[in-house]
Amino acid sequence: SEGDVIFSGIQPTGVPHLGNYLGALQQWTRMQNDAAPSTKLLYSIVDLHAITLQQDANQLRRWKRETLATLLASGLDPDRCTIFYQSTVPEHTELMWILSCTASVGYLSRMTQWKSKLALSDQDSALDFASIRGKLRLGLFSYPVLQAADILLYGATHVPIGEDQTQHLEFARECATKFNRAYGEILVEPRTILSTAKRVMSLREPRLKMSKSHQDPRSRIQINDNPQLIRDKIRVALTDSMTGVSYDPANRPGLSNLLDIMSYLDNQRRAPEDFARLYHAMSMRELKIEVTKSITEGLASVRDKYNSLMESDGGRFLDEVGMNGTIKARREAEKTMSAVRRVIGL
Ligand code: ADP
Ligand code: NA
Repeated sequence: SEGDVIFSGIQPTGVPHLGNYLGALQQWTRMQNDAAPSTKLLYSIVDLHAITLQQDANQLRRWKRETLATLLASGLDPDRCTIFYQSTVPEHTELMWILSCTASVGYLSRMTQWKSKLALSDQDSALDFASIRGKLRLGLFSYPVLQAADILLYGATHVPIGEDQTQHLEFARECATKFNRAYGEILVEPRTILSTAKRVMSLREPRLKMSKSHQDPRSRIQINDNPQLIRDKIRVALTDSMTGVSYDPANRPGLSNLLDIMSYLDNQRRAPEDFARLYHAMSMRELKIEVTKSITEGLASVRDKYNSLMESDGGRFLDEVGMNGTIKARREAEKTMSAVRRVIGL
């Protein structure tokens, strides 16, 4: 509706994978295609979030460009959306500092994302803030404040995110409330948190979500993997030795993840249980051939578009998209920041 602003981000910490595509990028594209003409859409490649763990500089530059290519290949239109690299809009860090001055350390320390970035399991209740703070860097601890700034800078009303991120959105709301209570109603609290509830798990450790930051490259399908690579990764995907195919996420997480993937790629026309019934008598090897086929076909057009964007003109088109995005994003960011600076006295 009138005045809607949609914002979301992706970290350039690797070539985006099937989980990013099904859990985020497909939804971003759908929102673009369904949005009213007055709705603003901003999608950011959040490179400042990517450096909470140190990166190789050249590799980070490559990943940024590959992530931009993936966004376009997934169907985002740079004329309709503002697609930009976060670090080219310095207002993100400026607002982050300002929000830090009213944000609560207690709230931050109860959040769990820094644990998973340190590769600690969320379930490991023994690891609390007090026991880990010696190893914890300030940026990794406080990056939810930067995430809050990302959203509040544009007055985002709708923030599409995977369910792994809902905690952060609640924190962004909290940051807006704290700021507004101190200085007046300047920041817009995001009204709606849209979670796709589509969650793709790691192919090697199916109790963890598929992630760019997992060491083992066989744990994820990248959107640019060719059919042979997809086949090889699915062949070694961890399943179990029970006979037959059934959908049972608690006891058969690896197999159930493969059935979920088929259902997502089918736009959930068929549920994972439907695929389990359809293939119930198959061996794991036979089922994996079906999964491979469905992923290969499901990613074909994205992969082709990605490859042509990466190979076309030495990246000049991608650089141009990035630069135009910066100009558009800064124009929006400046509106919020001039109001923020004014009420603070800066
Ligand atoms: P990653 O953990 O792979 O680095 P990001 O933090 O860059 O992913 O997340 C980008 C978007 O993709 C977010 O909206 C996030 O919720 C979504 N996402 C990430 N991993 C998955 C997954 N395994 N399944 C579904 N959605 C995911
Ligand atoms: Na992540």
